[in-house]
Amino acid sequence: MSTVADALQALTDLTPNREQVLADALEGLQSTPRRLPSKYFYDARGSQLFEQITRTPEYYPTRTELALLQNCLPDVARRVGPNAHVVELGSGSGRKTALLLAALQSPVAYTPIEISRAALLSSIERLAPALPQVQMLPVCADFTRPVQVPEPEQAASRRLLFFPGSTLGNFAEEEAVALLQAMRSTMGEDGLALVGIDLHKDTAMIEAAYNDAAGITAAFTLNLLERLNREIGADFDLQGFRHQARYSRERLRIETDLVSQHEQVVHVDGKPFHFATNEPIRVEYSHKYTDDSFDALLQRSGLQVAASWNAPHPAFGLRLLRAR
Ligand code: AVI
Repeated sequence: MSTVADALQALTDLTPNREQVLADALEGLQSTPRRLPSKYFYDARGSQLFEQITRTPEYYPTRTELALLQNCLPDVARRVGPNAHVVELGSGSGRKTALLLAALQSPVAYTPIEISRAALLSSIERLAPALPQVQMLPVCADFTRPVQVPEPEQAASRRLLFFPGSTLGNFAEEEAVALLQAMRSTMGEDGLALVGIDLHKDTAMIEAAYNDAAGITAAFTLNLLERLNREIGADFDLQGFRHQARYSRERLRIETDLVSQHEQVVHVDGKPFHFATNEPIRVEYSHKYTDDSFDALLQRSGLQVAASWNAPHPAFGLRLLRAR
């Protein structure tokens, strides 16, 4: 029996501190072209804005994946078997997790690894009362850094890593390979990983998803600058930058920039950064996969597909992975 209080007591808190955020921001702004890590989108407001994005009419990935997940969960549950320890990377609101945990045969524990403390706590507050038999072992951390996964009280048959939402697509190729390799070692020889991947499709449909008419995605990307102003004392003028998201069919990815609207100087920790008119800061990639491009990542990561499910339109995939 696990309650919200038990879950909060078990919380491992490795939230990135000011020094880490500052070091990453300085490194990114000093590089050419300039960049800022998309993981810092997810403060409390950023996580809320992302939730709103997932409900816009243009953002097809979340609802497509939810429907696909509902269809394939009986098959996933059969393949995973009883008593698994589910470990989720970037768990966010935990909406998909509730479906997964309810479908699996007596999962023993659930470890959400989430960078936003607010999102982590609210997902645990919802999941713990609904699933009292599942031990909640939350970890507040950046899952791109090595994380020690807590051991459940009841021994698990295997680990099932859950990485939905096509969050893998937010990583550049080398980072994605490093992350998949780390996942392989976290899940162990008998483990499995259920990964959501958005698939390559019509440019207009992809670009609309990252440029919603209500401007929520623009507010989400600009919130990154607001966070840096608040947390590391930067002085970005939010009116001075514009959200821009374009799909590169050559690189199979959305490339999101914050574009300087005029010549300006921004200070971060007292250091001046000069921006020319139209100079971009690259803030996010969202890769869209083909079978070939995804297989190439798996080849390099020591993983292989154990089972695969696709939604046809809009195209979106779920892959169950195991060690090669
Ligand atoms: C979390 N991640 C998979 C989202 C995506 O589609 O790349 C983040 C996002 N950025 C803008 N809209 C949604």
